[in-house]
Amino acid sequence: MQIVAENLSHVYSPKSKFAVSALKNVSLTIDEGEFFGIIGHTGSGKSTFIQHLNGLIKADKGSKKLTVGEFDLLDKKCDFKKLRSKVGMVFQYPEYQLFADTVAEDVAFGLKNFERLSEEETAARVREAIETVGLSYEEVKEKSPFDLSGGQKRRVAIAGVIVTKPEILVLDEPVAGLDPKGKKEFFALLHALHGGFVKTVVIVSHDMDNVAEHCTKAAVFENGEVWKVAPPKELFKEAETLAEMGLDVPVTGYLAARLAANGVKIDTDFTERDFARKVLETYRRAEEGR
Ligand SMILES: Nc1ncnc2c1ncn2[C@@H]1O[C@H](COP(=O)(O)OP(=O)(O)OP(=O)(O)O)[C@@H](O)[C@H]1O
Ligand SMILES: [Mg+2]
Repeated sequence: MQIVAENLSHVYSPKSKFAVSALKNVSLTIDEGEFFGIIGHTGSGKSTFIQHLNGLIKADKGSKKLTVGEFDLLDKKCDFKKLRSKVGMVFQYPEYQLFADTVAEDVAFGLKNFERLSEEETAARVREAIETVGLSYEEVKEKSPFDLSGGQKRRVAIAGVIVTKPEILVLDEPVAGLDPKGKKEFFALLHALHGGFVKTVVIVSHDMDNVAEHCTKAAVFENGEVWKVAPPKELFKEAETLAEMGLDVPVTGYLAARLAANGVKIDTDFTERDFARKVLETYRRAEEGR
């Protein structure tokens, strides 16, 4: 399912003196298959944009187009319930939304909202979702979600979203607050999901290293507008403009700039592996030339 927004606008509290124009004529296409990053300074409209994708926030009247696959979200007759089973939304710190007495009940809740299944079918789907996020169903099913570790809680929350087998998974700052190992494992999980029923991942991130490492493309939001959409390899070449927007580049970007200042040009895609390989090649060539 392709996501297409054309001239999408959203004003919060439009008729009051507290009106905030959070999105201004945003036009953005996200193709099926992408691992798509959304970056931008705080308050630039990232969360507002992604919450439009499953109808949690409704687009303003002047908006021209908002479609997700065959769903026309500007049409009053849009089946939002069905849409929400296809577009899974994981909010920031999803573990705070766990509420049921047991892990199995919590995950089942995500499913019962959308599908009428027998108890056995529900249990089978819940087991599948819990195992997909890398937890042991037998170990956690009867546990209170509150007795799990931070990383486990987050996995349970994701299980409650993927239990409907969404084709698009949208995540707002999914690795915020995790330690480096937790982040790595979480991205491994996202890639595993992306290779299965999840066709498209859309992820909001402040961490440019993660964007360089994992995203196929990214959009930069600036003050409610989209400044640029490009693969990270192109985006992070514009370090100065990004800095003006209060945005970083990946660590590899800083290192490449340092080397360039010393006359060593490295044409990298900003992933660690590529950067290391190119530095090594440059070093070897220099050694051979001596
Ligand atoms: N419920 C709301 N009511 C009124 N204004 C809001 C609401 N939610 C967000 N805003 C405002 O809309 C603008 C965009 O907010 P949004 O949350 O989309 O930004 P963001 O890019 O996700 O920021 P962050 O990186 O801090 O999460 C901001 O000016 C914000 O203050
Ligand atoms: Mg946000």
